Amino acid sequence: MCNYLLRFLFLSILTKASVEEPSMILISGQPGNFTFSQTFDISWEECILKCLADDMCALLQNQCPAFNPLALGPNYLTQTISGRLFKTTVSSSNHIYNLTYSLFICPKNTKHFQRGETTVVCIGLFFFEQPLCNNQAEASALCKAHNGTLTGRANSDEYDYMQDISNSSKYTSNPDSYNYLTYWIDGMSTDTEFLFEDLTHNGSTNYPWSGGTPQSIPTGYCLHHSGPHDSNVLHSPCDLSICCEEKGYVCSRGALCQVPPLIETYY
Ligand SMILES: *[C@@H]1O[C@H](CO)[C@@H](O)[C@H](O)[C@H]1NC(C)=O
Ligand SMILES: *[C@@H]1O[C@H](CO)[C@@H](O)[C@H](O)[C@H]1NC(C)=O
Ligand SMILES: *[C@@H]1O[C@H](CO)[C@@H](O)[C@H](O)[C@H]1NC(C)=O
Ligand SMILES: *[C@@H]1O[C@H](CO)[C@@H](O)[C@H](O)[C@H]1NC(C)=O
Ligand SMILES: *[C@@H]1O[C@H](CO)[C@@H](O)[C@H](O)[C@H]1NC(C)=O
Repeated sequence: MCNYLLRFLFLSILTKASVEEPSMILISGQPGNFTFSQTFDISWEECILKCLADDMCALLQNQCPAFNPLALGPNYLTQTISGRLFKTTVSSSNHIYNLTYSLFICPKNTKHFQRGETTVVCIGLFFFEQPLCNNQAEASALCKAHNGTLTGRANSDEYDYMQDISNSSKYTSNPDSYNYLTYWIDGMSTDTEFLFEDLTHNGSTNYPWSGGTPQSIPTGYCLHHSGPHDSNVLHSPCDLSICCEEKGYVCSRGALCQVPPLIETYY
C-alpha cells in the first residue's frame, strides 16, 4: 500500500510486434489536466486492459501495483537484460513525453555497476604485463591508460564480483600458483586520512576493514586486496612491488579499475 497518490501515465503504443498485439509502456510522470475523467473500482489488471483498448487513455492509480517497477520519484528506469544495462529516461514538455533509451556497454572483462542515482561504472581487474608485479603508482597509471581510475568496493554486489574475478583468475594471473590474487585498490594514506582518486565509491565508507573501522596508517601506505583469500582491505608501502613470503613470493599483480562505459543513446 502506498500512502501517496501515485500518478502514472500510460502511453498506449501500437507496435507491430511479432505477436501483432499492441503493447503498453509504464512510465512515471504526471499527466496534464484532462477535461474528462472517470473512476473505476476494478483491479489493476482489468484497468490495464481497459486503458490498452483506448488510444487516448491516461491513467491515475492510487495504489501501488505489486509489480510496479517505478515508484514516485525517479524519472528513469534501469534494467539489466542479458547482462547489459539499459536506462530509460522520461521527460516531458507540452504534453509530449520523450523516452530516451541508453545502453551502457562495458569494455571486455569489465562489468557494469550503478553507483548512486546517476553514475554507471565498468569495473574490472587489470593486470601488469611487464614486469608482472608493480607498485601503486603503476597500478594507477594502468587504470588511467584505460581512461579510468583505481577504484574500490562501493557495495556488497561489487565486492562479490571482486571476489569472483580474483578467484577465477588466481592461477592464470599469478606468477606463482598461489590460491589468491593481490591487487591495488583505491586509497593512499596520509596518516590522518585516505586520498582517493575515484570519488564515486564514497571513500572508505564501504570498505571492509579488519576490526570494522579504518586504522590510522602512516603516510606512504596504499590499500590493496588479496582475493578471495582475504576479505578485508590490506595496506602496504605504495612503492612495494614484490613482497617476500616463506614459500616464494606474492606480488601485486594489477589494479582494480573503474572505466567509463560506452553509452549508446536512442530517442
Ligand atoms: C492543472 O490545473 C490546475 C488548476 O487549474 C493548475 O493549477 C495546474 O497548474 C494545471 N496543471 C497542468 C499540468 O497544466
Ligand atoms: C528527448 O530527451 C533527450 C535527452 O534528455 C534530448 O536530448 C532530446 O532532444 C529530447 N527530444 C525531444 C524530441 O524533445
Ligand atoms: C554515497 O553517499 C551518498 C550520500 O549518502 C549516496 O546518495 C550515494 O548513493 C552513495 N554512493 C555509493 C556508491 O555508496
Ligand atoms: C581514451 O579516451 C580517448 C579520448 O576520448 C580515446 O581516443 C581512447 O581510445 C580511449 N582509450 C581507451 C583505452 O578506451
Ligand atoms: C572459488 O571458485 C571455486 C570454483 O568455482 C569455488 O568452489 C569456491 O567456492 C570459490 N571460492 C571463493 C572463496 O569464492
